[in-house]
Amino acid sequence: MSQSLATVAYLGAAILFILSLGGLSNPETSRRGNLFGIIGMALAVLATVFGPRVSSSGIAWIVIALVIGGGVGLYAAKVVKMTQMPELVALMHSLVGLAACLVGFASYVDTSTPYQGAEKVIHEVEIYIGILIGAVTFSGSLIAFGKLNGKIGGKPLLLPARHWLNLAALLIVVWLGRVFIHADSVGGGMLPLLVMTAIALLFGVHMVMAIGGADMPVVVSMLNSYSGWAAAATGFMLSNDLLIVTGALVGSSGAILSYIMCQAMNRNFISVIAGGFGSGAPAKKSGDAAAAEPQGEAMPITAAETAELLRDAKNVVIVPGYGMAVAQAQHTVNEITRTLRDKGVNVRFAIHPVAGRMPGHMNVLLAEAKVPYDIVMEMDEINEDFPDTDVAMVIGANDIVNPAAQDDPASPIAGMPVLEVWKARHSIVMKRSMASGYAGVDNPLFYKDNNRMLFGDAKKMLDEVLGALKA
Ligand code: TAP
Repeated sequence: MSQSLATVAYLGAAILFILSLGGLSNPETSRRGNLFGIIGMALAVLATVFGPRVSSSGIAWIVIALVIGGGVGLYAAKVVKMTQMPELVALMHSLVGLAACLVGFASYVDTSTPYQGAEKVIHEVEIYIGILIGAVTFSGSLIAFGKLNGKIGGKPLLLPARHWLNLAALLIVVWLGRVFIHADSVGGGMLPLLVMTAIALLFGVHMVMAIGGADMPVVVSMLNSYSGWAAAATGFMLSNDLLIVTGALVGSSGAILSYIMCQAMNRNFISVIAGGFGSGAPAKKSGDAAAAEPQGEAMPITAAETAELLRDAKNVVIVPGYGMAVAQAQHTVNEITRTLRDKGVNVRFAIHPVAGRMPGHMNVLLAEAKVPYDIVMEMDEINEDFPDTDVAMVIGANDIVNPAAQDDPASPIAGMPVLEVWKARHSIVMKRSMASGYAGVDNPLFYKDNNRMLFGDAKKMLDEVLGALKA
């Protein structure tokens, strides 16, 4: 393939990626968006493999790598559960960071192109920055992976004088960069490059360890953005325009998502990055019955009584959360919704921006179960309607319906906007125990007079409710 044909293919791929991002911004066009992304990526891979920069002997190596990488990817996509998706995404971000580091070191030791003068400086700056971003993304994403799957606790690690430590690391990295660029041989530049990589790896660990459980959504989207910038840096090192454009698209859309997440959590972006929010209580694992301190009496309800309340209601709002994803209860939720709507009940869904464990988690599950899009509302669209709601049914959600965010300034989630389900005539919380949610914060909602607890696995309980509704 000639250079000009490869450039045209890259241009086509870049346009498809932009269309893909546009499509993904709306559930109704997201399938088409995904398709654009797949076609764009296939085009990009073909144009690269058969492009002018790969020799025919190199193609065999690329095909072997594609088969191994594609095989691992296919296997992971098949076995990963929907609830493990955020961890998988974090792992993938870490791979982008690792790739940026490896490409950076390979570009540095590859002396086949003799760069001179300003060109040499520019090339080395690209390498240095590429490895720096790549290393932070790699180690930060690995820690995020550990935090998301519960292997690392949600409590922020707050080292004494951590801001000074970060500042010192930054100054050393700048100084090492100067030494690196002034080195007159690859051997001379390798030591500062390696030391900087080690500092960047430690910084990535420190940065994510310092972030509290409740702020993890911002970290997930921030690492998404970093992985984009790492890919763009790789593009500069390899002089690959498509990688630069694609990296910039991912980097900037991730940055916009981080901003949206910060707004949703009512957090200041810089403060989240500096760490320490959500530090009031350690995140306790779901299922730990002893997690929440009792603050009164929580009143239980049976599935049959729940069905009766739902049948008598005019307006019902369903609030799904992480527990619905764990229980895979979305199909039963859809069945209940259909049954109630057939009986003339106005059923709507209230989606909190950080419900579940990844952006759009609940929307994906509800779309999979074929819940009509027009009854799925964002928090801002529906929060004012709770006083006119007969039954607010909370399915496996906890932090996103916690009134302490509004009432308790000392709470680690203070200030975070929440769904005001307690303003409904009745609220029903469906979960297995009194355990706290991801942020590890007790929930006073459970003890409110108009609240009832339907204890048990969400899928099992909803099956019983559906059975009672149909009886
Ligand atoms: P959580 O606050 O984590 O609460 C989920 C609840 O589901 C738990 O209290 C658990 O209680 C219950 N549960 C678990 N398995 C269940 C099952 N099989 N059946 C019924 N209930 C079950 O979830 P949320 O309200 O969706 O809030 C999300 C939290 O995750 C926020 O703190 C958010 O900051 C954080 N987070 C979000 C993201 C993104 S991007 N969305 C990323 C990382 C972290 P039991 O154990 O008693 O059943």
